[in-house]
Amino acid sequence: MDLATLRARLDARPRTLLATLPTPLRPLPRLRAALGPETPELRAKLDEETGFGLGGNKVRKLEFELAPDRIRDATHLVTTGGPQSNHCRVTAAAAARLGLGCVLVINGPVPENPTGNARLHRILGARIRSVADRAERAAALAQVAEEIGAAGGRAVVVPLGASTPHGALGYVHALVELHDQMPPEADRAVQLFVSSSSGGTLGGLWAGLALLPRADLQVTAVSADTPRDELLERARTLARGALELLGADPDQVEAVAPRVDATDAEVGPGYGLPTEASDEAVDLLARSEGVLVDPVYTAKAAAGMIRWIREGRFPAGDRIVFWHTGGHPALLA
Ligand SMILES: Cc1ncc(COP(=O)(O)O)c(C=O)c1O
Repeated sequence: MDLATLRARLDARPRTLLATLPTPLRPLPRLRAALGPETPELRAKLDEETGFGLGGNKVRKLEFELAPDRIRDATHLVTTGGPQSNHCRVTAAAAARLGLGCVLVINGPVPENPTGNARLHRILGARIRSVADRAERAAALAQVAEEIGAAGGRAVVVPLGASTPHGALGYVHALVELHDQMPPEADRAVQLFVSSSSGGTLGGLWAGLALLPRADLQVTAVSADTPRDELLERARTLARGALELLGADPDQVEAVAPRVDATDAEVGPGYGLPTEASDEAVDLLARSEGVLVDPVYTAKAAAGMIRWIREGRFPAGDRIVFWHTGGHPALLA
């Protein structure tokens, strides 16, 4: 698809404006120096600075997920996540902004003194429905929506992570934004590293790769929890759905599949549990560049990127982008 058509089709999609865009694309010269003389050019795409509700990738996704035509007549937003969910935080902020009630189905023990995102969920006025574990979330979401309906309201259920074809459009939009900030240069690949879990961010970037008329972009998703193949499958489905929403042939996703990769090598002992490499990444980015990464998602993505750089996987002419998807409040949990 040519760029003008892609921009026009994105612009034609209904959207609730929430984010401060474009987010900065900032060079990381001191991190580059710290990683050694062979390190290719390094930059960060700072989606931690999308702004609304303390920012992060969910803001971009919710702009399309909560488009005006999709929330017409709604009285409540209902969604789900873990006790430190960034997605729940931004959804609660969006509900407040839109004048809607918000119910969050949160798995795990109820904290006595909520910190980080758990505290923000409450400050933002969300009602919390607690369930014991992840497996109980779907049924509880349906039940909450039914209760709201029975009381005369209308709940809009936002699926986990806003990882839907609509949500993924936020990252097609984001890739066009990056394209404007970083035009192609002859014989230089651009390697993007991004944290991934429910797959919507990766799915959107994948759909963007399929639609943008340039072949130098490659994406590596670093999983926070999900096995590699499952993550890629999830993202593929979302990318196909995003292409359909943009009136494009979903099979275009397959043509760029060789430029999309994922790794689950940084998960370590599990979701949210630090590893030596993720702890090192937190300190390294903070002390070399003043960039704060969170222990659950972005530290593991940075750890994956650092590992691949140290393994010498990229020619010196490549350009590497660390896509910072937010998540700071978890540092204060
Ligand atoms: C800070 C942060 N980074 C990355 C992700 C992963 O994004 P996605 O769920 O779209 O795969 C999430 C949410 O899960 C997140 O909160």
